[in-house]
Amino acid sequence: MEKKIMYDFETPVSRLGTHAEKYEARERFFGNADVEPFWVADMDLPTPGFLVERIRERSGHPMFGYTEQYDGIFEAIAWWMKNEHAAEVETAYTLLSPSVVTSISMAIQAYTEEGEAVALLSPVYGPFFSCTKTNNRNVADVPLQVENGRFMIDYQALAQALDRPDVKLMLMCNPQNPGGRAWTVQELEKVVELCAEYGVVLFSDEIHSDIVYPPVRHQSVLNIPLADEIAVVAHSIGKTFNTSGLQSSFVFIRNPKLRTAFRRAQERAHCGDINLFGKVALETALSPEGAEYRRQLLAYLHENIQQVCGRLRQVNGLFVMEPEATFLVWSDFRAFGDWQTVFKKLIKEANVALSGGNFFGPAGEGWFRINCAHPRSVLLPAVDRIVSVFSAS
Ligand SMILES: Cc1ncc(COP(=O)(O)O)c(C=O)c1O
Repeated sequence: MEKKIMYDFETPVSRLGTHAEKYEARERFFGNADVEPFWVADMDLPTPGFLVERIRERSGHPMFGYTEQYDGIFEAIAWWMKNEHAAEVETAYTLLSPSVVTSISMAIQAYTEEGEAVALLSPVYGPFFSCTKTNNRNVADVPLQVENGRFMIDYQALAQALDRPDVKLMLMCNPQNPGGRAWTVQELEKVVELCAEYGVVLFSDEIHSDIVYPPVRHQSVLNIPLADEIAVVAHSIGKTFNTSGLQSSFVFIRNPKLRTAFRRAQERAHCGDINLFGKVALETALSPEGAEYRRQLLAYLHENIQQVCGRLRQVNGLFVMEPEATFLVWSDFRAFGDWQTVFKKLIKEANVALSGGNFFGPAGEGWFRINCAHPRSVLLPAVDRIVSVFSAS
């Protein structure tokens, strides 16, 4: 019988000396180089051994020149999408991209003109805002509503935004970061219908789609028939396999006109390819071994999420949004003072660096996001410190 590998997520692995942003940028963002970091959304859990081995093997060859986009990459992507997300995709409309944010920027340049606007549902991952602005486009911000402890879409407000003549593109985070909503088919259908009605291209950022906790399942926009004409769907192995530094992402665009426009934007920026190790990683990760790793990872992360939410809920006045997806927990600290006061308390008294809600747009002010993809022996004592500091306030 084949021996099953059990992945070790418990043993802490030091990232010091690797230039990891989460560690190295602490002084710059938090004014303290030693505070324990739970901010940047990458995992402090190791990339699986089979993937590390394959990269090591390739790095043993002494030449790192230009490489083709070979079939094995696209076969691996199609296998993963079918096996893990029940989505049929074809190589003909699969494009490689160095990162999801690069693809967001390409979509903005392909489907909108300077001075036009991009709709989004906030709070949302900061570059949805910053990428729009640095491309000289305006943000049509549609705040999400909190209902029964989770984010819901205000369709009336969304329709109003999409109806604006200057709005040509909508950026959707599916599943949602920072709130961890895994949007349902019905919710996605409604968004797709509205975008189709108002002639708006829909960009679905599905980077967190592998991290959805059973029994909830990720619903891809790829499986909504009406979306074929209007959607760009982006995914990556960055979150799932802790390979964001390898920059390997991919995009599906079924509508040939939208695909051509996106390709032209990639050609202008010369960013339609990914690096050699990203290719090796994609081909290796998106495999049955990768699926088994993902299954074990999800079980570990889910336990972390439940323990963190359970502990934080002991604090009176702290509202904790339990995620259906992502390894992130989004919490409302507004009962404890303005965000600067809370920010300082978190750093100075609890010795933790969390992502501040302002990064996710104005709707995030006063909220903080904790990254739970850390070994429990590191994560839980840090959460206990937060509980003790804010229970005493
Ligand atoms: C929703 C979302 N999109 C994109 C990214 C970044 O992806 P990439 O590194 O591929 O640009 C992140 C990282 O946190 C994210 O949360």
